[in-house]
Amino acid sequence: MYTAPQIMALKSKKKIVMLTAYDYLLANYLEKAGVDIILVGDSLGMVFLGYKDTLPVTVDDVIYHVKAVKRGAKDTMIVADMPFMSYQESIMDAVRNAGKIVKTSGASAVKLEGGLEACPQIKALVSIGIPVMGHIGLQPQSVNKYGGYPVQGVSGSDITRLIKEAKAIEEAGAFAIVAEKVLSKTAAVITKSVNIPVIGIGSGPGCDGQVLVTPDLLGAFEDFTPKFVKKYDNVSERSIKALGKFIKDVRNKRFPGRKYYY
Ligand code: KIV
Repeated sequence: MYTAPQIMALKSKKKIVMLTAYDYLLANYLEKAGVDIILVGDSLGMVFLGYKDTLPVTVDDVIYHVKAVKRGAKDTMIVADMPFMSYQESIMDAVRNAGKIVKTSGASAVKLEGGLEACPQIKALVSIGIPVMGHIGLQPQSVNKYGGYPVQGVSGSDITRLIKEAKAIEEAGAFAIVAEKVLSKTAAVITKSVNIPVIGIGSGPGCDGQVLVTPDLLGAFEDFTPKFVKKYDNVSERSIKALGKFIKDVRNKRFPGRKYYY
């Protein structure tokens, strides 16, 4: 199982693979497949709880899901997302909520969205022994500010700001940074400008690693599919087909056959 310092040491040596999980079963699949980090992202609000965005997710939701993930993946590093309004208001909130997550759930690190404004919180968490993964570029918790999910790091001032944010987050003590939906050229520059790994999502091959929402890559979540998702299966279609067969079999008295009862 990787620790935060070991993840830092992977920069430029090995591409880091992080994937999301929210439950025992998926976490167990990810561990068996050999993923480096499991992220219990606040994407759980959309792909697991059916909300329209990540904003309603609570600290208790995150703890509940990390506990299940930990039971399924005992030997994989787990990073827990800090949900909306669990750290933005004050350093004390950040310390209390990250402390509660790490103390009770089985996560060994937290991730939080934000640029310069998040640095005091990152510094405080690292100072009390909680490893932090930053998250720049598109920040889904700010969907109402953007009015959608736009590509980041396109204009000159945006590029300069993102590089400055990445450096400040490194300086604050983060062990890695997620760069979401950042123009690939910009993401490559950001990756080169810091000494900690930059894990991209929709930000191109210049990053030190890649993260995706697992139900997206499995083709299990169909509500919407961002351009950066490569579907490696069509679990949704295959599951609906399999379930339909079962329903038909019961109705047509083909299930349970002799093999399936006592
Ligand atoms: O919540 C999440 O799953 C994330 C990833 C998309 C990086 O933050």
